[in-house]
Formats: sequence, structure tokens, C-alpha cells
Amino acid sequence: MEVKILMVCLGNICRSPMAEGILKHKAKEHGLNIFVDSAGTGAWHAGEHPDMRATQTAKKFGVDISKQIARKFSEKDFDEFDFIFVMDHSNLRDVLAQARNEKDANKVKLLLDLDEPGSNREVPDPWYGEDDGFTAVFKMMDKACDAFVKSLS
Ligand code: 4NP
Repeated sequence: MEVKILMVCLGNICRSPMAEGILKHKAKEHGLNIFVDSAGTGAWHAGEHPDMRATQTAKKFGVDISKQIARKFSEKDFDEFDFIFVMDHSNLRDVLAQARNEKDANKVKLLLDLDEPGSNREVPDPWYGEDDGFTAVFKMMDKACDAFVKSLS
């Protein structure tokens, strides 16, 4: 059965689009039957393509995220997805606040907890920083996605 994964950050134009691209790329490589999407807890950038810095960084690693379109997270996503991976503690709070029951809440995890369970680490928001921040963020998300792919096999 197809496993459905949603990546969530604040704006859905930097971190979660890269995470979506990374996991889709790995799914293709490993022939996994998964569906991956991403969303933001905020709607400011809904309808936009990812930030150029995110697109350029992903491209550098062979991942094309240029065609993605930002959208806002909604309660309906709890029905659609099996796993909801959030980037930081504020995303975690915002998404959990919309959970209707324990089943919804149990789907939500910090992305970096996948390779370091219980570490409570965040993917920092690279929006205000330099381009280098995007590369560091890409690499930590890539490692977490590797751990997730491993957990599926
Ligand atoms: P993201 O980064 O949550 O990784 O997409 C951000 C993008 C935009 C803003 C904040 C964070 N913003 O304030 O517009």
C-alpha cells in the first residue's frame, strides 16, 4: 500500500519543499511506493514557487523542486497522510493544535527525530540567513530522509 508523507514548515517555500524533493528523489531511486507532499502552517506564500535559494540548493544536489507550489496546511491533511514531518518546534505546536484526536496527533513528528530519535532537534529556518544556511539545512534533511527510507524497508 502507498505510504503518504507530508513535510511541513512555516512558509512552505524553503525547508519543506526541499524535504519533499529529497524524499521524492530517494523514492524514485529506491523504487518506493510513496506519495510525498508539503505544506506550510502559514499562508503568506500560498500559490508561490519555492524560494530561489531553496531551488538552487536542491538543484546543486540533483533535486528539482522548481515546479512545486506552496499551500497552507489544513485539518484535512490528517485524513490524507500517514506521516506528517515538521521542521521545528513552532511547526509542531501549530500542527498539533489542529489535531482532532490522538490518531491525528500520533502522525506528527519532528523530521530530525527520524535519524536521532528523541533528540528534539529542529531544522533551522534558513529564510533570513545566507545561502550557506540552505546547504546545511538540505544536508540535515537528507540524512533524516535516508533514515526514513531505511525504516520502510
Ligand atoms: P520556510 O521558511 O518555513 O522554511 O518556508 C520561511 C519562509 C518564509 C517566511 C518564514 C520562513 N516568511 O516569514 O515569510
